[in-house]
Amino acid sequence: MPTQTKTSVASIKAIRGAFLDFIADPFFVPEELESVRYIPDGLLILENGHIQELGEYEQLKNKYPAVPITAYSDCLIMPGFIDTHIHFPQTEMIAAYGEQLLEWLNKYTFPVESKFKDRDYAQKIASFFLDELIKNGTTTALVFAAVFPESVEAFFTEASQRNLRMICGKVMMDRNAPEFLRDTAISSYEDSKKLIQKWHKNGRLLYAVTPRFAVTSTEEQLRMAAKLLEEFPDVYLHTHLSENVKEVELVAQLFPESKGYLDVYDRAGLVKERSIFAHGVQLRDDEFKRLSEAKSAISFCPTSNLFLGSGLFKLFQAKSKKHPVKVGLGTDVGGGTSFSMLQTANKAYKIVQLQGDKLSAFKALFLATLGGAKVLCLEDKIGNFDAGKEADFIVLDLKATPLMALRNSQTPPAKTKAEIAEKAFATMILGDDRAIQATYIAGELAYHKNQAN
Ligand code: GUN
Ligand code: ZN
Repeated sequence: MPTQTKTSVASIKAIRGAFLDFIADPFFVPEELESVRYIPDGLLILENGHIQELGEYEQLKNKYPAVPITAYSDCLIMPGFIDTHIHFPQTEMIAAYGEQLLEWLNKYTFPVESKFKDRDYAQKIASFFLDELIKNGTTTALVFAAVFPESVEAFFTEASQRNLRMICGKVMMDRNAPEFLRDTAISSYEDSKKLIQKWHKNGRLLYAVTPRFAVTSTEEQLRMAAKLLEEFPDVYLHTHLSENVKEVELVAQLFPESKGYLDVYDRAGLVKERSIFAHGVQLRDDEFKRLSEAKSAISFCPTSNLFLGSGLFKLFQAKSKKHPVKVGLGTDVGGGTSFSMLQTANKAYKIVQLQGDKLSAFKALFLATLGGAKVLCLEDKIGNFDAGKEADFIVLDLKATPLMALRNSQTPPAKTKAEIAEKAFATMILGDDRAIQATYIAGELAYHKNQAN
């Protein structure tokens, strides 16, 4: 039927360029390059916001003769970045001077978060925040809102308007915070439940039960969080863990019966497969082992760990063959200092260097894409260019700045994985939002550098 054929061709489109993604975890394959898929001249076929096929241009061009092609030269097309830990209400307090975690929370964070009861204000910041993510090539994030349900409403409303796959939750916090920012064990349970019922799996949106950290929750509140996980088994648990030495000491005082920080969450029933713990800088060996057993995940937040002076995350211990723990990268804005996952990879590289190891570009970019998808148990939907996945992807300009152009011109256009590794490394060290030429969300162009949207 001609009309039908016309409709289906019209809904298909294609992108031509150099494609890089991951088909396995480079930390665990015998040869790192086995985990990488690199197609120097590829064609990505998109239909209805999903990936239909990725292959060599020469092989696919005749299969889709009538399909309109958008071509990108001198660029690298990758899956959208996945930020596994970030706070949207902290956007305006990024780069707050001079304090480590506990003082930083009291001096800067809590006053700012108290503004997010105002739904309009929350929505204005959520809008700015999401535009900033997209501009930085981040298409999925696991996001802390504030304690007020209004802040979650605002966030999901804005994320839904952009058709983004986003995960967010209301902060649960019933002690050790200013009165205005405290909920109660019961109210946090009830408010979270209402939000789950309204937003979880609403379009591309998902909910995370979000107790801030053990310092600001009573045992009763942590148990109510676990009750939500039992009632809604496919929501996430998102919290902070073992970030800073003084914090770990305080948690030991607040929970004297626990064997350690992770054990506080474990006793409450919060250490599970869909649990994502931000930081883990101070974790002990037995705690890494427990996270591995439980299939829980850590969000490694390098810019934050450096900025707040928290310490050096032991990435290669987490990625050990014996007790592997899932790891993704998080910006942790506003403790973190950049929305850019390239800058986050840059700092991850340096943290690993300080421990005498090497974080290759492929390993770092895996953490920022498919690794993040695995952390979020979303690897069936996002994270690489496998057929059937949602078409969230970015176009990286490897010559975005004069310095990057100079650095990346020294080798010819990359034909091999080894050649693209070299350029990708320079890009993750030198690049930031300027390197994001375009961002596609569910197959649609959502951002193009230097073009009004
Ligand atoms: N621990 C508890 N709350 C926070 C927060 O807002 N940021 C960071 N980095 N750590 C925390
Ligand atoms: Zn955080």
